[in-house]
Amino acid sequence: MSELFSLAKAYENYFKIGAAVSSFGLSEYRGLLLEHFNSLTPENEMKYALTEAAEGQFQFEQADAIVAMAREMGVKIRAHAPVWHNQTAPWMYRDGDRPASPELIYARIDSHSKALCQRYNGDVYAWDVVNEATRDDPLDPAKAPGESPVYRNSEYYQLCGAGFIEAAFRSMARYAAPDAQLFYNDYNECMPEKRDRIVSLIRHLQEKGCRVDGMGMQQHYFAAPDYDELKRSIEIYAGLGLRIHVTELDVSMTARLSLGDRRLKPGTPGYEECVREALRATPEALDKINEIYVKLFEVYRSYADVIDCVTTWGVADDRTWLDSFGINRNPPRIKQHPLLFDESRQAKPCVQQLLDAAKE
Ligand code: GLA
Repeated sequence: MSELFSLAKAYENYFKIGAAVSSFGLSEYRGLLLEHFNSLTPENEMKYALTEAAEGQFQFEQADAIVAMAREMGVKIRAHAPVWHNQTAPWMYRDGDRPASPELIYARIDSHSKALCQRYNGDVYAWDVVNEATRDDPLDPAKAPGESPVYRNSEYYQLCGAGFIEAAFRSMARYAAPDAQLFYNDYNECMPEKRDRIVSLIRHLQEKGCRVDGMGMQQHYFAAPDYDELKRSIEIYAGLGLRIHVTELDVSMTARLSLGDRRLKPGTPGYEECVREALRATPEALDKINEIYVKLFEVYRSYADVIDCVTTWGVADDRTWLDSFGINRNPPRIKQHPLLFDESRQAKPCVQQLLDAAKE
């Protein structure tokens, strides 16, 4: 293939083009990865559940496989999400038959960070140090007394308050290679209320003297993008002195419909209609997803002075987490078409459009 047909090369003067991959899909996607991507994110392989399922017993085989792929591509890794309320084994929160103390949790986070950095420092250029630590809904103190208006009421939070977030950033700052950037990563990051919470979390870290280099904007689209809020959000996060990475971009079948609710559940108004519509993967529906990609990249390019990487959550439509998430938790299953490459791993029309737009 010609050099011109490479997203990574076409976007060299804008930002890196990344993909999240699983260690199981590497051989299938090898060609596309080598051609189009210059940043790689392990989908799950650097999370606690896979790297330290039992305390002190580290397992790195699956993460190593992704690092080997990155080396073959000649690129570095966006390491993803050690400290997260999901995919963390229960031992983290226990001390024998008692709940773990904050100090014990911080010590565990510290030794885990050290082990990850010792193994991967030469291969990682950015860490999502903490993932998704803000709450989704506004606090209703009557329903949830004692909960924070800002933070997710996770086990980490219940045991440590915001201290676990500070501890994670401090440990990573201690052990990560000096040129690796430290990110906070979250979703629904363009919704004003959630964005305010994320800003509070980051300001708190900054006030506590923790080094935060970047904001990971996940960019999972379940509803139509609000491009003005996207621009405003980039400006707000960059205004905190942060670099921006788009970390988990995908555009689900429901994103082409005008819907308020982002993760429709049975019983929510519009759900039935939404399912009916989402089921129809008509050429028009797929065009709409295509068009959303073109418009999103237009915005990203216009903020290339602060955006350093745009990563899609997956490579091609044959394997996407959305096939079993959100609306797909309930039958009928809806085939999702959320990525830049189709089920046969062929470039969708938007890829050529993105290549052309980068030349303008
Ligand atoms: C979140 C996490 C990711 C991944 C996706 C779903 O966005 O940050 O690590 O688990 O959900 O696959």
